[in-house]
Amino acid sequence: MIRLVALISGRGSNLQAVIDALSAQSLAAEVVAVISNNSNALGLERARQAGIVTRVVDHRDYPDRAQFDAALHQAIQPFAPDLVFLAGFMRILGAEFVNQYHGRLLNIHPSLLPAYRGLNTHARVLAAGDLQHGASVHFVTPKLDGGPVIARVAVNVHPDDDPERLAARVLTQEHQLYPMVIGWFAAGRVRLHNQQVYLDDHPLSQPVELDFGESSCAAL
Ligand code: GAR
Repeated sequence: MIRLVALISGRGSNLQAVIDALSAQSLAAEVVAVISNNSNALGLERARQAGIVTRVVDHRDYPDRAQFDAALHQAIQPFAPDLVFLAGFMRILGAEFVNQYHGRLLNIHPSLLPAYRGLNTHARVLAAGDLQHGASVHFVTPKLDGGPVIARVAVNVHPDDDPERLAARVLTQEHQLYPMVIGWFAAGRVRLHNQQVYLDDHPLSQPVELDFGESSCAAL
């Protein structure tokens, strides 16, 4: 049974998708703690409902990023995670923190990385007139949203999309993408070595492109 710790900042719908998938698919993984920088995060309530231990490390209690990162690391360590996954965790983590979790820190990002790193991805995709958008799961490295990508899922942009509608369709796909990749990790199928992602011991020359079929609304 591998041990997972989730870091969240808000709604926690991706966390919920992982919790639900783990119980439904009886994967050899367990979310042992959910840690948030925001005490009001809805995801903390989701964790409690699932009987998962929660912790809050509020970034506003620390004078700088390094001290916040150190406190976060201290909060995580007792849970001895095999994998830490960021699920809507909206703080930038410093290099020292990230390097301590090399190869066992995942993030889900709402864009087809390497396109649209950073914030407001849905609005930026629409402003650019792109026909496709999506989500990516990647290993976290010190470069923001720039670590090696494991898998992506694309959605078509519709002519009548606004950022909220597009975000909802991407989110539906995120809820399938993240549990699947975490399942691969739990099964020992995916790993990072020297900035190279391996799936089933084969180096990936590009991210795995997944297609779950699009549905019209997200389960928030
Ligand atoms: C998700 O869309 C996730 O990809 C995004 O925040 C949302 C969190 O939703 N993450 C980032 O933008 C990270 N840079 P959730 O709290 O309902 O899972």
